[in-house]
Amino acid sequence: MKQRVETEKFYPAYPVFVLTYLNEVGEPQMSTGSSSYTLGDTIVIGVSAESNASKHIYAGQKLAVNFPNTEQLGLIEQGGFSSGKRNDKIKVHQIELTKSDNGGVAYIDACPIVLECTVTQTVSDADYHTIFAKIDTRLFEKKLLDSDGHFIHEELDLVLFSGDANERKFRQLATKIETVGGHS
Ligand SMILES: Cc1cc2nc3c(=O)[nH]c(=O)nc-3n(C[C@H](O)[C@H](O)[C@H](O)COP(=O)(O)O)c2cc1C
Repeated sequence: MKQRVETEKFYPAYPVFVLTYLNEVGEPQMSTGSSSYTLGDTIVIGVSAESNASKHIYAGQKLAVNFPNTEQLGLIEQGGFSSGKRNDKIKVHQIELTKSDNGGVAYIDACPIVLECTVTQTVSDADYHTIFAKIDTRLFEKKLLDSDGHFIHEELDLVLFSGDANERKFRQLATKIETVGGHS
């Protein structure tokens, strides 16, 4: 039997990312998030309506979704503990950005996986700004790829974010991996 939980939020464990995008004068910005899903070439990201990200990310804009590893909790907190509305996080924390060679926005090369995206649509209400974007390029660090360019599952090290309104935690992936299929 289940127990009903009275909490305003619950995150089962989503991968943490740091968005990079430009403000109205072309200066790079960064914001930490965990609310996303991807399906094929589409990524959907939720940010709060009051965030700096919601102000600058709209249809036609470029953004990069940078996925940090478990050595980069500092970067995650730098992007997520204050708003770009009040300080320039990229400058304050001296975040090294790499220029895109695909017409995209500058990204954080230190992160093991980066998705270069173009925003196709946004849907806003009083609380949330939902961003639909097309994934233009997927950039992986070399150790994540075998000689055929295929993803090496065992090498993936991302930070997951889980918890409820009471407390949220960072988690890491276990290397227990199962093939999909043959379990039913
Ligand atoms: C691990 C982590 C995950 C977060 N996930 C989200 C999220 O999915 N959506 C969101 O709006 N804010 C999220 N936040 C909070 C924002 O990062 C925070 O409000 C930040 O100040 C927003 O920056 P901005 O105003 O410069 O965009 C998260 C923060 C952390 C540390």
